[in-house]
Amino acid sequence: MITPSAQSITVSLGQRSYPVWIGSGLLTEHARWRAMLRGRHALVISNTTVAPLYLPRIEAGLEGLHWTSFLLDDGEVHKSFANVGRALEALGHVGATRDACVIALGGGVVGDLAGFSAACWMRGIDFIQMPTTLLAMVDSSVGGKTGVNLPVGKNLAGAFHQPRGVFADIDTLASLPEREFRAGLAEVVKGAAIGDEAFFAWLEQHADALAARDPAAVLQAIARKVQYKAGVVARDETEQGERALLNLGHTFGHALETAGHYSTLLHGEGVAIGMLLAAQLSERLGMSAAADTARLRRLLQTLGLPTAIPPGMDAQQLLALMRLDKKNSAGQLRLILWRGMARAEIVGGVAEAEVRAVLDAAIAGS
Ligand code: NAD
Ligand code: GLY
Repeated sequence: MITPSAQSITVSLGQRSYPVWIGSGLLTEHARWRAMLRGRHALVISNTTVAPLYLPRIEAGLEGLHWTSFLLDDGEVHKSFANVGRALEALGHVGATRDACVIALGGGVVGDLAGFSAACWMRGIDFIQMPTTLLAMVDSSVGGKTGVNLPVGKNLAGAFHQPRGVFADIDTLASLPEREFRAGLAEVVKGAAIGDEAFFAWLEQHADALAARDPAAVLQAIARKVQYKAGVVARDETEQGERALLNLGHTFGHALETAGHYSTLLHGEGVAIGMLLAAQLSERLGMSAAADTARLRRLLQTLGLPTAIPPGMDAQQLLALMRLDKKNSAGQLRLILWRGMARAEIVGGVAEAEVRAVLDAAIAGS
């Protein structure tokens, strides 16, 4: 296998700027990430699937520190306040002082919870991200959104807390299940579809290589998506405007995920179907051309992503779930749509009848 060398992309946030390293062998290149730990204490947060595979790769790099690990059981349901409490207790047991560091080794579930735990301990300590899923490498590990789910809803408790560094070791993708890998590709497509047409064209050209997990293509796709997201985060860290565009496909997608009780669709799969529905709605509202929708559908399908609403889902139920979206205001639907390829925008006051028509047509066609 080709082992492309590591590269880094900076998320520019003044004194809180940090590098996102992407490449092969980063976990075992201890000196690079160890240099970011300022104190003598560390807590590694991972889960019961990832830790047996990859914790041994970083252990020697932690020599000389007071450190321990806290392992979540696997699954979205464990991204909970109860587990933040347990992570904080682990920091207490290790004697963590203000200069301690939390290391997140895992996918987005681990990264979100570890970052939030770091934000809470002594009102905020360092953390570094070691993402091990494609989704976490291209999306959740970058940008400082951290948090947990509450019984009343997903990601409802959280904080903006930027990591000191991100180390995306692409070797870890070798063990990632195929479906999880493809779900991560949806987040790559999303970045291009929002605002980078040249990247979208590149994805079209390299779709077969990406679907086959060609290492050079995967590395480049990760780097381009991270570069795109780093720019958005640098311009709008706390989502006062532009950053909301990163939610393209999410209002539809979350409704689909919820309707499937978080077991029918992975997040990235919901985003893939959701982006296509957003494109169809944009087309229906006269904002974009059928050719743009067709291009998006073709790319998603080549990457092996679902594009149809799963059987048994009902338009009325999906619309009801969409009404609960955080982006809505004054009882009106507010969606991220696009004005043609790679020109996403926030659109308020979308008529429910139009959304309903798109959902009905998609359900009838699937
Ligand atoms: P995940 O963390 O649940 O990981 C998916 C599965 O892959 C899990 O079973 C995990 O144990 C396994 N896994 C992880 N790395 C592996 C590896 N290298 N080899 C084998 N198995 C591995 O899910 P995810 O898709 O990484 O992340 C989804 C989470 O990210 C959601 O909670 C979502 O809300 C959050 N998210 C956050 C942001 C953000 O900006 N903070 C953005 C997008 C998504
Ligand atoms: N995943 C959306 C964001 O980081 O803003």
